[in-house]
Amino acid sequence: MIAVLLVGGEGTRLRPLTYHFPKQILPVAGLPMIERVLKQFAAYPADNRLSNPDDVVGGREIPQNTDVTFQECVLSLGYKPERFVQTYPDGLIDGLRVSYAVEPEPLGTGGAVRFAAEHVGVTETFVVMNGDVLADISVYDLVRVHFYNRRHGALATIGLVEVDDPSRYGVVDMDASGQVRQFVEKPSPDEAPSNLINGGIYVLEPQVLDLIPVNQMVSIEREVFPELVAAGSLYATRMEGYWLDTGTPQSYIQANMDYLERYMKLSDPPVAGANQIAEGVWAVGHPIVRGSVLPPSLVMNGSLIEYGAVVSHSVIGENCIIGSGCRVDRSVVMGGVRMMQDSALEDSVLAAMVEVGEGAQIVQGSVVGEGYVVTSGSVLSDVRLPINDQ
Ligand code: GTP
Repeated sequence: MIAVLLVGGEGTRLRPLTYHFPKQILPVAGLPMIERVLKQFAAYPADNRLSNPDDVVGGREIPQNTDVTFQECVLSLGYKPERFVQTYPDGLIDGLRVSYAVEPEPLGTGGAVRFAAEHVGVTETFVVMNGDVLADISVYDLVRVHFYNRRHGALATIGLVEVDDPSRYGVVDMDASGQVRQFVEKPSPDEAPSNLINGGIYVLEPQVLDLIPVNQMVSIEREVFPELVAAGSLYATRMEGYWLDTGTPQSYIQANMDYLERYMKLSDPPVAGANQIAEGVWAVGHPIVRGSVLPPSLVMNGSLIEYGAVVSHSVIGENCIIGSGCRVDRSVVMGGVRMMQDSALEDSVLAAMVEVGEGAQIVQGSVVGEGYVVTSGSVLSDVRLPINDQ
């Protein structure tokens, strides 16, 4: 089976981090996001063998022995495609073969699906996933539900997840058979028909491609799905398991925190070659830790945590200097950052090579872009710097 991963968006909500890199190249607990996303597919076909023994998914009997093996994953690229090619020049990401479909201009989520599917000559059922969704759900079960739905005329099955606040997402209303009745994009609280949202993972039949105009900007959520709803051929099923859309600074920080916490419970390190230097504190290579690093945290090679500095629940990239008396909490610090003494970082992100002056405080979801210099003593709360710098 072929998987299309949509990774061509500009990631405007994550600016300035995305001025120089596509969202999926940004690190999540030390690994480019795309490697975390692709784990979802690399897990197969091993999971085939672990399939639901009673063969019932979402209350429905599902065909057994469905072959769901992802031999190939197509990365649907548009924004800064060279970053992917430079990072993975041999077309292998964590052992999975990937190919690159580079759009000449942005085609939106629908146009991109058609472009990528045609690029690899899709002729059978295929899977599409938003490349900024970190999930731990069974794509295998989703495919099996789709094969069941297909007998009832489904051309597409959307994986749904339940969230507390559906207003940022596409909300789905379906009947007992799973047929979608209504698809409401970003509803106000009183308009939301349920808390089940489009999780950005779809199983599609190749006929869906015919509904997408060629080489045009088309949104799969806003244009293609409503057409399928009208034809009665869009189905959905609820998926269980971890799910996070990493599109905003807050959710990007959350993704890093979630993965640090997850690895506290596992025997594997969050990145290959990391060793635990204390319980829940991983180090890659040989950082120098003179101050304190509290779990769960990850400190990369060549970094120095000075006397009196306290790092907790955070990721420190390569070759950083965290000066004496500094505090870093629930934050992501990329490579080459220098924090001068007594500066503080909380719930925030520093891109590579940022310099933070003495005593500066950066808090509450602030994002500081590559190479920016934060002057001594300044207080940044819920801000992004620089702005309009592309
Ligand atoms: P924002 O600009 O912050 O909304 O982020 P985004 O550009 O990533 O858009 P959005 O989160 O809506 O996109 C969902 C997924 O589709 C992401 O993985 C994007 O990379 C991808 N995507 C969005 N637009 C395009 C496009 O025009 N082409 C391709 N290939 N992928 C896209």
